[in-house]
Amino acid sequence: MARITYLECTKCGAHVDADQPQTICPKDGGVLYARYDLAALKPAFSPAKLFGRTPTMWRYAEVLPEAEPVSLGEGFTPMVPSREQGNVYIKDEGLNPTGSFKARGLSAAVTMAKSYGLKKLAIPSAGNAASALAAYAAAAAIEAHIFMPKDVPMANRVECESYGAHVTLVDGLISDCAKMVAEKKEKEGWFDVTTLKEPFRVEGKKTMGYEVAEQLGWRMPHGIIYPTGGGVGMIGMWKAFDEMQQLGWIGPERPQMVSVQAAGCAPVAKAWDDGKTVSEFWTDASTIAAGLRVPKAYGDYLILDILKKSGGVALSVTDEEIMDGLRHWAKVDGIFAAPEGAAALAAYRKLRENGFFSADDTVVLFNTGSGLKYLDVIDGRKPVAKKTAPAARHIAGIIGPY
Ligand SMILES: Cc1ncc(COP(=O)(O)O)c(C=O)c1O
Ligand SMILES: [Zn+2]
Repeated sequence: MARITYLECTKCGAHVDADQPQTICPKDGGVLYARYDLAALKPAFSPAKLFGRTPTMWRYAEVLPEAEPVSLGEGFTPMVPSREQGNVYIKDEGLNPTGSFKARGLSAAVTMAKSYGLKKLAIPSAGNAASALAAYAAAAAIEAHIFMPKDVPMANRVECESYGAHVTLVDGLISDCAKMVAEKKEKEGWFDVTTLKEPFRVEGKKTMGYEVAEQLGWRMPHGIIYPTGGGVGMIGMWKAFDEMQQLGWIGPERPQMVSVQAAGCAPVAKAWDDGKTVSEFWTDASTIAAGLRVPKAYGDYLILDILKKSGGVALSVTDEEIMDGLRHWAKVDGIFAAPEGAAALAAYRKLRENGFFSADDTVVLFNTGSGLKYLDVIDGRKPVAKKTAPAARHIAGIIGPY
């Protein structure tokens, strides 16, 4: 692991050795960040070096852990200008392996697990992280032990079973799944890849920050709207921007970072409104956007700090607004988004209405997953068909129920 110089605690700054598997800071439970010798990399690693490299997240190899990647082709997803407004981009993460941006984090985490020689991984998941772990673990010939709510979208369960993972469906939320992993992991010999409780999912997700910059010609957008559950992508992108500045690829400018959550589970948005630096556990979390059903993010202190430093904002949108955004993107842009991704469009609309963004601001909306993974959820929410009056049906020659 030559390239990582150390892991650094985001709370107390302690340095932790990366030569063996690590979880969180042993002193205070802070999230650990992988640090590289960017000053040493700077003279030889320039954007021009990326030309012709593989169109996956591993094109940024110099700033990723040095290990043989367990890759299924994740990352370098399209940045599609909206048909309605060319300065609004949809970063389409639905095209990743396993249909969501979770592929990036789990590709990095499984790569490192394999290089450390770990044999059994466990994850509590809202759904898509489970699918991604199951796929990458299969590719790495490592066992995956998955705990997810019993009402996850059907695709998540079917995928995990197909990939040969050990699946436990839990009568509860991701927080209940996390408790079960925590209780069992020692006895079972599992390494826990829970969001932000190991350092490498952030490393995978940070590549979204490198891509946004590269795909916009090394310019920062005015804003990035990110559907936030555990917040790993936002945390990772912010880390990437700092790294890029140290490498001399960008200046001190940063996008305004926006967290969008679902009205039925909005702990970060509430903490933001209340001016808090950490969030409170959200009780009775409920939303169609399964990935946003995270009652308390482990890295809430990092998310809230980024929102503040970037001049950003957190807000929530209702399931109806999400579904409206989902149908709109599908019909107007030809992009069938996950409900979580559609929340970004709903948020953009609100932030235009209230003047936070103006019409000519360049804004990147993260569609974090594919709608194809939510067919059961989306089908259950289809607009109620307008009943045609019997006389009219008769005239039109339509017979029977439809
Ligand atoms: C499609 C989708 N979008 C967004 C999220 C939230 O991601 P994060 O935990 O990185 O905030 C999830 C998490 O499961 C997800 O599956
Ligand atoms: Zn610490």
